Amino acid sequence: MKNNKGSFITFEGPEGSGKTTVLILIQEKLEKQGEQVVVTREPGGIAIAEEIRSIILNEKNTMMDAKTEALLYAAARRQHLVERVVPAIADDKIVLCDRFIDSSLAYQGVARGLGIDNVLAINEFAIDGVMPHLTIFFDIQPEEGLARIAQANRETNRLDQEGLDFHKRVYKGYIKVCKRYPSRIVKIDAAAPIEEVVENVWNILKTHRII
Ligand code: TYD
Repeated sequence: MKNNKGSFITFEGPEGSGKTTVLILIQEKLEKQGEQVVVTREPGGIAIAEEIRSIILNEKNTMMDAKTEALLYAAARRQHLVERVVPAIADDKIVLCDRFIDSSLAYQGVARGLGIDNVLAINEFAIDGVMPHLTIFFDIQPEEGLARIAQANRETNRLDQEGLDFHKRVYKGYIKVCKRYPSRIVKIDAAAPIEEVVENVWNILKTHRII
């Protein structure tokens, strides 16, 4: 809920869900309305977190242990939050963040098998109670998302090298996370045409009085 203070909105979903493209289109629409918007992403968004990102996603780091991975994501999250997100919220901005804690719960908690509660615990330490006001989950079947990525011919990273089974677990993880936070997370059909997805996100922002 917006309270005359900034808003913190996160975009979540499996690979190829289109969340990044939609996020940019929503940014443009918001700015046209005169809103002050900060667009950022995880892992990364600021120098220290981008450095951590390059360690996590480096395809050469095949030895990385799942708990190390979870801790690195949490460390990047902490730094990004204090350096970027919290000041922007205090400055009355609308922060649109590509991925946040729910990615860790789905990818590390469920797909890597660390357990949602364990991953939540280290993340609670990292975020100190700063949760998104609203999260949009881009719902798409893993097969469809991966097919979109293959077509897009984009750069790959260490997590992209995981097989379909991994991405199916990520999807199941997200569904669990959605059930855990029903008032914060709104699910949208990400397989719909992009204009429709943008319109749906826009309507959700209105319903939640972000705009
Ligand atoms: P990126 O190229 O930014 O992926 P996308 O465009 O799909 O957002 O790479 C980020 C990868 O890191 C992606 O595979 C999801 C993964 N990830 C986690 O496993 N845990 C996390 O907490 C976060 C933020 C991302």
